[in-house]
Amino acid sequence: MIPKKIRTAVFPVAGRGARFLPATKASPKEMLPIVDKPLIQYAVEEAIAAGAEKLVFITSSSKQSIENHFDRNPELEHALSESGQNNLLSIVKKIVPPNIACIYIRQGAPLGLGHAILCSQSVVGNEPFFVHLADDLINSEIPCLEQMRKYFELYNASLLGVEYVHDEDIHRYGIVATEVDSSGASRVTKIVEKPALKDAPSNLAVVGRYIFTPEIFKKLSLIKFSVDNELQLTDAISSLINDEPVYVLPFDGTRYDCGSKLGYLKATVQYGLEHAEIGVKFSEYLKNITKPQNK
Ligand code: UTP
Repeated sequence: MIPKKIRTAVFPVAGRGARFLPATKASPKEMLPIVDKPLIQYAVEEAIAAGAEKLVFITSSSKQSIENHFDRNPELEHALSESGQNNLLSIVKKIVPPNIACIYIRQGAPLGLGHAILCSQSVVGNEPFFVHLADDLINSEIPCLEQMRKYFELYNASLLGVEYVHDEDIHRYGIVATEVDSSGASRVTKIVEKPALKDAPSNLAVVGRYIFTPEIFKKLSLIKFSVDNELQLTDAISSLINDEPVYVLPFDGTRYDCGSKLGYLKATVQYGLEHAEIGVKFSEYLKNITKPQNK
């Protein structure tokens, strides 16, 4: 019997971030800030809010700033303390609570999301776990992974975060077909990676939030290179649905694809408007620059 408590979150952060070049040439996409926090910190906060205690980052040689971000920085802390900037000092010290373990595993080459997740097997062990893709930023009242954790506790099966996408975006996602099974939940019956519109089984796209039972590792170890010449997580899920139920959750919230320039800008505007320190002034500024000009 699979335990119901999810203790581990896996963050694959070893991708190339090609859509965001040149910004991602020397610094990771996941360290791009939305207002004043990097994407990966939003990701970590969401996972911790859903109960994760062990954070596993799948990294690569160019991603050391992620490790540094979640580590202590005695020199900076000393300087902030000496200059009496106690508010900033507390922000810097609180990035990861002391009971949380951060573990870093190198993915030698970006062979695909499926391969990245397989790299976490020895650390995750025989337990269910979260997978969180930091470039999918989700703004919601209840953090998305927390919504998924609650659902997982009801059904004790793998779960994919999904949302409807427009026809023209279908070719960018894993697309699922589902049916309601005897438990009353929507079960995946088919999943296709980046299909052409004519081959898509629906408009329901998998986005960057997952809960997996450890059975996924067996499937990941068997997949072959496929779409984009990568080891695709979608292929492992496609095999998993033959052996056990995989459900979908259309979560509440707005998702921003921060791996794309437009999605990143939309997120920056939304989080800027909601920001306690600058929200009001930013809103006034936006109203001003979007006001129709009198000719
Ligand atoms: P993406 O395809 O969105 O990210 O992969 P990418 O490859 O970094 O970006 P583009 O498409 O080139 O702009 C989804 C997630 O999987 C991770 C990425 O870091 C991202 O969070 N990933 C992808 C890995 O960790 N390893 C890989 O080999 C591939």
